[in-house]
Amino acid sequence: MTTVLDVQRFKEEGRRFAVLTAYDYLSAKILEEAGIPILLVGDSLGMVMLGYPTTLPVTMDEMIHHAKAVARGAHQALLIGDMPFMSYHASVKQAITSAGRFIQEGGMHAVKLEGGGRIVEITQRLTAMGIPVMGHLGLTPQFVHQMGGFKVQGKTEKQAARILSDAKELEQAGAFSIVLEGVPTEVGTSVTQALRIPTIGIGAGPGTDGQVLVFHDMLGLTTGKAPKFVKRYANLAEEIASAAQRYVREVGDGTFPGPEHSYSANGSAGPAKAQRDEVKYGSSV
Ligand code: KIV
Repeated sequence: MTTVLDVQRFKEEGRRFAVLTAYDYLSAKILEEAGIPILLVGDSLGMVMLGYPTTLPVTMDEMIHHAKAVARGAHQALLIGDMPFMSYHASVKQAITSAGRFIQEGGMHAVKLEGGGRIVEITQRLTAMGIPVMGHLGLTPQFVHQMGGFKVQGKTEKQAARILSDAKELEQAGAFSIVLEGVPTEVGTSVTQALRIPTIGIGAGPGTDGQVLVFHDMLGLTTGKAPKFVKRYANLAEEIASAAQRYVREVGDGTFPGPEHSYSANGSAGPAKAQRDEVKYGSSV
């Protein structure tokens, strides 16, 4: 099983690593079997799974619901629960309660929090209690209104210096890694070189220790235009649409179901045939 110590070792050995978001049982199972060592149950699920315009409406209960499903599908990957907006902002006590839920109810191994400043103290407290923390700096989507939109951060010297000092403080507080999102390549690289803990980039260029992408973006399972940092490794939205259109056609013209997808009254004999007569959803479950 991948642990936070392995992630630290990845950096020490100069081994670049891939992280993906996961939101449900089956995708977690497939991604883990494909060799993804770290799965993030990101609050991006609010946008890609639940249709919210930002991540701000996502609740702890929604996150726990998805975290539990991911934990049922993945047993080897390091699982990170993303603390949603207002689940750690009111007090350190609230942060501990929310993080504890991710571990106890959600089956996660660590949590991720956005921002520097006050988050440093929370990181220190959670780490001291045995809850590993992943930081998140740069474009932090929970600050969308303060940033005036989902905009690249760290373009000025002052902003870049702030990201670097926040990163160092989070490292000092015990964070085991930091996501750097939406920053210029120079910032991604210089922060990575200044830290002992690994950085995980998303739109932060090639100089970070690891890379993370949102599951739906990486698979082309979206309907809109992808941001510049996204590489589409598949075009699933198109595949799904064309499969659905074929299904509609075949039901309409009576091609489906054919005899190979239908039961007969006295057709089953022997264990293999009997198994084919089982009525069960999802052949991989
Ligand atoms: O919510 C999320 O999926 C994230 C990643 C994009 C880093 O925070």
